[in-house]
Amino acid sequence: MLNNIDIQKGDIIDAEIIDFGSNGEGVAKCGVYPIFIPFAVKGDILRARITWTSKDYAFGEIVEIVEPSKDRVKPPCPYFEKCGGCDLQNVAYDTQLEMKRENVKRSLKKVGGLDVNVPLPVSLNEWEYRNKLALPFGQNKRSGRVYLGFFEKRSHSVVPMKWCKLQGQWAADLIEDVGEWANECGLTAYDEQSGKGYLRHAVARMLDTLTLTLVINDKSKNLKDLVRLTEKLNRHFKDYAIFVSNNVRNTNVIMGDSVHLVYGEERAQDLGKFKAVVSPMSFLQVNDKVRDAIYDDVCDKIGADFDGEIVELYSGVGLLTAQLALRLKSANITAVEIITEATKDADALMRNLALENVTNICADAAKYVEEIAESKTSRVLILDPPRKGCDERVLEVAKSAEFEKIVYISCNPQTLARDLKTLSSTYKIEYIQPYDMFPETRHVETVVVLDRA
Ligand SMILES: C[S@@+](CC[C@H](N)C(=O)[O-])C[C@H]1O[C@@H](n2cnc3c(N)ncnc32)[C@H](O)[C@@H]1O
Repeated sequence: MLNNIDIQKGDIIDAEIIDFGSNGEGVAKCGVYPIFIPFAVKGDILRARITWTSKDYAFGEIVEIVEPSKDRVKPPCPYFEKCGGCDLQNVAYDTQLEMKRENVKRSLKKVGGLDVNVPLPVSLNEWEYRNKLALPFGQNKRSGRVYLGFFEKRSHSVVPMKWCKLQGQWAADLIEDVGEWANECGLTAYDEQSGKGYLRHAVARMLDTLTLTLVINDKSKNLKDLVRLTEKLNRHFKDYAIFVSNNVRNTNVIMGDSVHLVYGEERAQDLGKFKAVVSPMSFLQVNDKVRDAIYDDVCDKIGADFDGEIVELYSGVGLLTAQLALRLKSANITAVEIITEATKDADALMRNLALENVTNICADAAKYVEEIAESKTSRVLILDPPRKGCDERVLEVAKSAEFEKIVYISCNPQTLARDLKTLSSTYKIEYIQPYDMFPETRHVETVVVLDRA
């Protein structure tokens, strides 16, 4: 049998895929030595080329699938494997859900040392679920043609694309309209190497109406050839707003520091239980149906009779906050969010709904928690951090401040497991439910409820 000493970069091996890794890739083994093979599916028998080795594991790439797994399906998108947005389009959808359940369970065990029964993710939609896109502009060197596309893997060249099955028809229409506008107006795409070129990214959110932000390599608050762009968009979109974001820095960060409205109005959008304005700078969950199901779940878990204090950290534009405040009229809610625009959106939402039991605070959660004192009132803590999980200080205070309950909403099983490990000395897991917020990708959202041990 081969072992790691025998395996070299460039080797071709025959492999059976016996498992999957946390990034959705297939795993083959030579003895105990794992080889991670992107886009291989558990059950495949294949030939693979070794692309990278270390003493503990290796990476490979598929050369030939000799016998496909019963769980392998034909990916519907021509850009799959190239675009990097999806990881699992070639895996049957039921199997994707199993993989995500297993990923959460394994992370809790491996990273958190926690043995937990994890149910299958709740799934409400498989395709056309994303309300947001963010695509870079590229430009063909020979023809000069400008287009929207995606970054080629491990490179910074932009490959043109026409549509995305995660977004649906509105995205295809937008890509066509913006591409035609850019070319007919002779605009140029930003080139990272030279720092020259005008158009960097198109960032769009489709709710009731479209909000399009064009990120430009220019300091002007106006957009060149705006009227022509509206003529193009009018063909497909009735009501929309256009923003400009200035980003003249040499950076991978998409947006500049602020946005300027150049066309239309910032409209309140239908967001489940109510309408709200969401600034282009604010975070919004990408899957509307799953977002609403998660918020309902969280409200149910806190219970209709709760009349104490709720501290909600990482609260975004306040959609969950408002839902809680409407249901729990006697509770007092403090919602903490670091982005100024998101806190402004949240303030406007509370005003529109005449909610007086909410205080929105714009602050770093790690700094705000220093103000959480011991309290005799019954208290719930809600945590919905970004992928990197909660700040250590937040977890320390969560442990010492004696909350009755903690609700943790996570988009990353690894950091969830790390944070639950810290909290598990004081709290025990009462409920866990993954949600398939991001079908066809390796990502999974998880709601966990912890009670004081
Ligand atoms: C996963 S989102 C959740 C937002 C909101 N709960 C929702 O459901 O839409 C995380 C939020 O945390 C905010 N955030 C990131 N780091 C933060 C920090 N250190 N302190 C407070 N908020 C932070 C982000 O701006 C973002 O709005």
